[in-house]
Amino acid sequence: MNIKNSNILVTGGAGFIGSHLTDRLVAEGAHRIVVVDDLSLGREENLSAARAAMSGLEFIPMDLADDTALIRLRGLGKFDFCFHLAVIPLPASLVQPKWVMDRNVMMTSTIMELAREGGIQRTVVFSSSEVYGTARSVPMPEEHPLEAETPYAASKVASDSLVVAYHRTFGVDVVLQRPFNNFGPRQNSRAYAGIIPIVIERARGGLPIEIHGDGLQTRDFIYVEDTVRAAVALAQRPELIGEVFNVARGQETTILELVQTLLRIMGKDAVGVIHAAPRPGDVRRHLAGVDKAHKAFGFTPSTGLQEGLERTVAWYLGQS
Ligand SMILES: NC(=O)c1ccc[n+]([C@@H]2O[C@H](COP(=O)([O-])OP(=O)(O)OC[C@H]3O[C@@H](n4cnc5c(N)ncnc54)[C@H](O)[C@@H]3O)[C@@H](O)[C@H]2O)c1
Repeated sequence: MNIKNSNILVTGGAGFIGSHLTDRLVAEGAHRIVVVDDLSLGREENLSAARAAMSGLEFIPMDLADDTALIRLRGLGKFDFCFHLAVIPLPASLVQPKWVMDRNVMMTSTIMELAREGGIQRTVVFSSSEVYGTARSVPMPEEHPLEAETPYAASKVASDSLVVAYHRTFGVDVVLQRPFNNFGPRQNSRAYAGIIPIVIERARGGLPIEIHGDGLQTRDFIYVEDTVRAAVALAQRPELIGEVFNVARGQETTILELVQTLLRIMGKDAVGVIHAAPRPGDVRRHLAGVDKAHKAFGFTPSTGLQEGLERTVAWYLGQS
């Protein structure tokens, strides 16, 4: 199965990773691309580059957690591939846990139903490193226990489990990609923004940076273009059906180091750092095991942290 000349559905495609993935799918020569997103956090302008390169790109505003979503999706025709990314993000689950759990699982069950009915041939599902919770040991392979720390993480565990169940019970063709922390242009900087857009925005205004806890919690950061390259590669490997793959650099960085690197790149070393109370459910340590992805489809990220952060900072500073 090839992306070239194929028909593709991208859920959450107006969001951060989804819009970069859409750019990539256009570049790979997809025949038809349909992006569905309710624009709760995504933005249509994230698709500007993809639209400029593919005038027929279809964008359909749609709430995938709505009861009518499956009926609407059926009406869109059949797809060779679906990349399922739509999600309500982690911080929302700290204030509206039930809503996040219900909606995240419902979106996944809708996509799995469509696939079961034959509306999608192969689905690449975006899981999350959050499903593991804090590392019991490092590096963390795909077999690491799933110990969700937050309701968001629990909703991703539930979604992953549903996807695997559809594969085992109905033979639905799925592959799961489990990205660690992504960064790059177009990451949401509004409600529920991630640390990188927040730090850039505050440093730009000369405001102190707030870090939850001691800042020694670690993450395995990966540049978004590497993540979408992995997704496209995975989609085209039918022998990997039913498998799950970590997608990460296999490098550990503390939040404090991340903030200091960003401030250095921006020439804002003088901006202060203040420590707020730890965030509930904050994972303490993440370092991915990356051997499985490397062996199975030769995946090696090509963008280092410094280079990726420089590109990210340049992009945000170029926005008004
Ligand atoms: N960003 C990361 O660091 C990271 C890390 C691991 C996994 N992931 C996974 O990658 C995927 C994409 O994440 P992202 O960072 O691009 O998030 P994002 O918030 O930028 O994108 C998610 C998109 O889903 C859309 N959406 C939310 N609810 C919807 C609904 N009911 N119907 C239709 N669309 C809806 C939002 O509007 C948004 O555009 C998610 O599945 C996430 O769990 C992300």
